[in-house]
Amino acid sequence: MAAVLVVRDVRKEFPTDAQAVRALDGVSLTVDEGEFVCIMGASGSGKSTLLHLVGGLDRPTSGSITIEGRDITRMSDRERTLFRRRRMGVIFQAFNLLPTLTAVENVALPSIIDGSDGREVTKRARSLLEELDLGHRGTHRPQAMSGGEQQRVAIARALMNDPAIVLADEPTGNLDTRHGEEVWRALATMSRARGKTVIAVTHESAGATFADRVVVIKDGRIAGQIEPGGEGHAALVATRYAELVG
Ligand SMILES: Nc1ncnc2c1ncn2[C@@H]1O[C@H](COP(=O)(O)OP(=O)(O)OP(=O)(O)O)[C@@H](O)[C@H]1O
Ligand SMILES: [Mg+2]
Repeated sequence: MAAVLVVRDVRKEFPTDAQAVRALDGVSLTVDEGEFVCIMGASGSGKSTLLHLVGGLDRPTSGSITIEGRDITRMSDRERTLFRRRRMGVIFQAFNLLPTLTAVENVALPSIIDGSDGREVTKRARSLLEELDLGHRGTHRPQAMSGGEQQRVAIARALMNDPAIVLADEPTGNLDTRHGEEVWRALATMSRARGKTVIAVTHESAGATFADRVVVIKDGRIAGQIEPGGEGHAALVATRYAELVG
């Protein structure tokens, strides 16, 4: 399988008034096309920092990040922003939907702003919502949807530009277990049925069981990896995780 993401020896330091904070300390990681990878680690271990760097929102202090063969660390800020808009899909913990827009409009908006044909965009938004079992919610505004439904709308929005990688930072952090599972299932389906590459940060071992691979980060370094072995193996993932960070 072809690697869609290659992270090589990435370090990230944040200058502060006191001592600089070393958030990432030599991370190397390869993710293949169509893989679903979860990143786990304690609070402050560097998970979000890694996701931000892969998403091109910030630059590493050293090391390289190659996506579809292009080193995003060598791009200008403008090139990187364009690359992110065209090739990356991002999902946040807070769903970040616009309250006055319907589900279809929320999914379509970024592409319309980007100048795509409104009619085509709306058609695509509807079909993505259907794929995410939200065909019946197209005209609903966020407040008339459950948290799980809202996050699935955000997943549809992230898929609109057919991204190389879907990045999700604690996508179920605001959801209860049942709605969280809907979202994990949707992400797994996007990866398995559509061949999407998904990288999601989570604290939940139950969610991580939906991934093909779990990467564990400790103090800005990769402490090890877990093969989750499928749904229902949350206890196993939790045990392995505790061993790796312990
Ligand atoms: N902009 C910043 N300036 C200074 N320090 C930062 C900045 N962003 C992150 N850090 C520090 O870098 C380290 C890693 O932060 P990061 O947000 O990546 O952690 P995390 O693993 O996502 O944690 P959490 O699970 O709490 O979200 C932390 O010590 C954090 O305080
Ligand atoms: Mg974080």
